[in-house]
Amino acid sequence: MSAPALERPADGPVDTAALQQQFDAVIAAGHRIEPRDWMPEGYRKTLIRQIAQHAHSEIIGMQPEGDWLLSAPSLRRKAILLAKVQDEAGHGMYLYSAAETLGADRADLTDKLITRKQKYSSIFNYPTPTYADVGVIGWLVDGAAICNQVPLCRSSYGPYARAMIRVCKEESFHQRQGYELLMTMMRGTPEQRAMVQDAVDRWWWPSLMMFGPPDDDSPNSAQSMAWGIKRHSNDELRQRYVDMSVPQAEVLGVTLPDPELALDPATGRHRFGAIDWDEFKQVISGSGPANAERIARRRAARDDNAWVTEAATAYAAKHAADAA
Ligand SMILES: [Fe+2]
Ligand SMILES: [Fe+2]
Repeated sequence: MSAPALERPADGPVDTAALQQQFDAVIAAGHRIEPRDWMPEGYRKTLIRQIAQHAHSEIIGMQPEGDWLLSAPSLRRKAILLAKVQDEAGHGMYLYSAAETLGADRADLTDKLITRKQKYSSIFNYPTPTYADVGVIGWLVDGAAICNQVPLCRSSYGPYARAMIRVCKEESFHQRQGYELLMTMMRGTPEQRAMVQDAVDRWWWPSLMMFGPPDDDSPNSAQSMAWGIKRHSNDELRQRYVDMSVPQAEVLGVTLPDPELALDPATGRHRFGAIDWDEFKQVISGSGPANAERIARRRAARDDNAWVTEAATAYAAKHAADAA
């Protein structure tokens, strides 16, 4: 489905009202906005903020599991984990590219990440003390990411929506490998089963926080939904995730750490306990268990590898000059 062009005519005065009207019509028709189309400044800024935050999450998200690459329990587990962590780097790259189509600069976005002017998902600020964490991140964290991202495949901004299609396919692999690892551990020794339960106890509540604040405390959500950037509210997606995870936990044989979790027979949906939003606010504002470490490592990666960027830039410039 291609949207009608929203380009400004080459001559004559700019009729912003007409452009806005065309933009609104494209959104209302469920068509896509493309990089060269006219768009309101608020739409562009909101998208840059959301896509950058998403890209940062993919890149920072390499760290908690990346810590296990050198001590994976077998060659097979190591190969799987390596592929997964590489996928996350790829997701970050697609997303930074999508942000660039809106006029953002990749180096500037990285700068904003490491100076904490832009955020990333709160979930990656929790530690990974055992290998069961690798499995639980795959099952719960990638599972929550899928719930969040599948609707983004229909986001109104073309490059973002297309990036999400590829990303979601890879996230499904991540979720399955996590679940398979946990299944294997649950068939193992009592100590292994206890490790899985302990990891589930630590990750369940933070995974519910991944959907963001409750709808009545999420000031930008309504506008993002009106623009077709978001398709479902935070609470709606969180509910979908809980309903999806409960039967998976039963099959696995673990208990989700919420005594209030219960199926509501009237709605067919699960009721669940209160989320600790104070913890969420602390972690998202920089005071989580691993925030400082994550940012310090990202900063070191940028600084230590600056010579690669410089060499590649110089080479590209020379190549362009030779070709001219
Ligand atoms: Fe990812
Ligand atoms: Fe993933």
